[in-house]
Formats: sequence, C-alpha cells, structure tokens
Amino acid sequence: MSLIEDLQWRHAVKAYDPSKKVSREDIDKIIEAARLAPTSSGLQPFRLIVVEDQQIKNRLSEGALNPDCMRDCSHVLIFAAWDRYTAERIDRMYDLTTDERGLPRGRFASYTDKLKSIYLDQPAEVNFAHTARQTYIALGLALAQAAELRIDTTPAEGFDNAVIDSVLELEKHSLKSVSLMYVGYADQSTDWLASMKKVRVSTQDFVMEF
Ligand SMILES: Cc1cc2nc3c(=O)[nH]c(=O)nc-3n(C[C@H](O)[C@H](O)[C@H](O)COP(=O)(O)O)c2cc1C
Repeated sequence: MSLIEDLQWRHAVKAYDPSKKVSREDIDKIIEAARLAPTSSGLQPFRLIVVEDQQIKNRLSEGALNPDCMRDCSHVLIFAAWDRYTAERIDRMYDLTTDERGLPRGRFASYTDKLKSIYLDQPAEVNFAHTARQTYIALGLALAQAAELRIDTTPAEGFDNAVIDSVLELEKHSLKSVSLMYVGYADQSTDWLASMKKVRVSTQDFVMEF
C-alpha cells in the first residue's frame, strides 16, 4: 500500500466501537510517528498526552464536541504545546542535541541566542501561536501512520480547552491543549461518514503553478 492509498482510505470517523481496543504496539507506532515530526528549530515545543483510562475519557468528554467519540474510542491523543518559550526550555533541548551528538554544550549558542532574542521578547500568546502550529505536523503524521495500520482516527479541535487543560492539569506542565486525535475502530453501523465520498477541491483548483 502506498501513502496515497492510506490517505484515501482514512476518514474522520464519527462513531467508535467501544469494545475494540488498539494494541499497545500500534499505539506506540502512532506515537513514534508524532515524535519524529520535524519542528521549527528542532525544539519539539509540545508534548503528546495519551489517554486510555475510561474514567479520564469520561471526564474529558464533558468538554468535547464529539463526546461519544471521546468515550468510545480506544485512545485519545492530545497534542499540548508549550505555553511560551523560555531560555531554559530552549537550552534544555539544545543540551540534549549536543549531548546526543557528542558535541560540546554551547556548540549552537549563537543560534540559541538568536532564538531567545526573538522568542523571549514576544508575548506568551505569540509564542503559543508558534508552538501550537508545530503540533499540526505531528498530528498529520500520526493520522497517516494510523491509516497505514488501518486504524481509525478523528482529528479534532472541537473541544473546550479549559476542560481538557484542567482535567489533565496541563498548566502544571506549562502546556496548553491544541488538538486531539481519537484513535480506535469505527462502529460500522453508526459511523455515518464512512459511506460518503471523500471530497477535496480538484488538483487544478488546489495547485497554483508558476
Ligand atoms: C485540525 C482539525 C480539526 C478537526 N476538528 C474536528 C472536530 O472537532 N470534530 C470532527 O468531527 N471532525 C473534525 N475534523 C475533521 C474534519 O472535519 C475532516 O478531516 C474533514 O471534513 C475532511 O474529511 P476526512 O478527514 O474524512 O477526509 C478536524 C480536522 C482537522 C484537520
């Protein structure tokens, strides 16, 4: 199967079968696809929260536009971004990078100084808008990996961030929720989108070539 076939296969599932669980091995592959996502300056300014616990899913469902999906899916992946950039966060990532590459710490200091001079002068909301954007690349890769495994998903922004952040105590970690991904197996009898044609603008309308 090719990536294009995987993407044609997937759709945003509207109802999950609560009796079907995704294996830990497959969840780990989806997590790995998200972890390998490229990010601006390699900072990985977000974390992935994986929720399988039914009671926590029930509590999260109070803030969800698709509460049934939240309750009935196998796992919920929550993409939560740094609430702001800090010198410590930037240094920690670059110390990891130099340590992993066997380079002296500070090897990229001129670059990290530049990042700090840009980001640390910005309001937290501007920082967060940037960190949040990075999460969508990981969300896309996770959706694609799940599709390759023929596991159903729904990307979702339809939720009350305040509820999700509070239930998961994200503020403690200086994180804010951005998007969700429901993961599981569709309920074939109630997933009304399954039988509908995938609709996209034509390539002609989509692409502008010069
Ligand atoms: C960032 C993002 C947020 C979305 N939020 C929701 C959502 O809250 N609830 C929902 O049912 N679908 C949501 N969707 C699914 C889209 O409606 C769906 O992907 C789109 O209509 C295309 O259909 P397809 O994914 O089945 O091809 C979201 C998709 C994306 C990419």
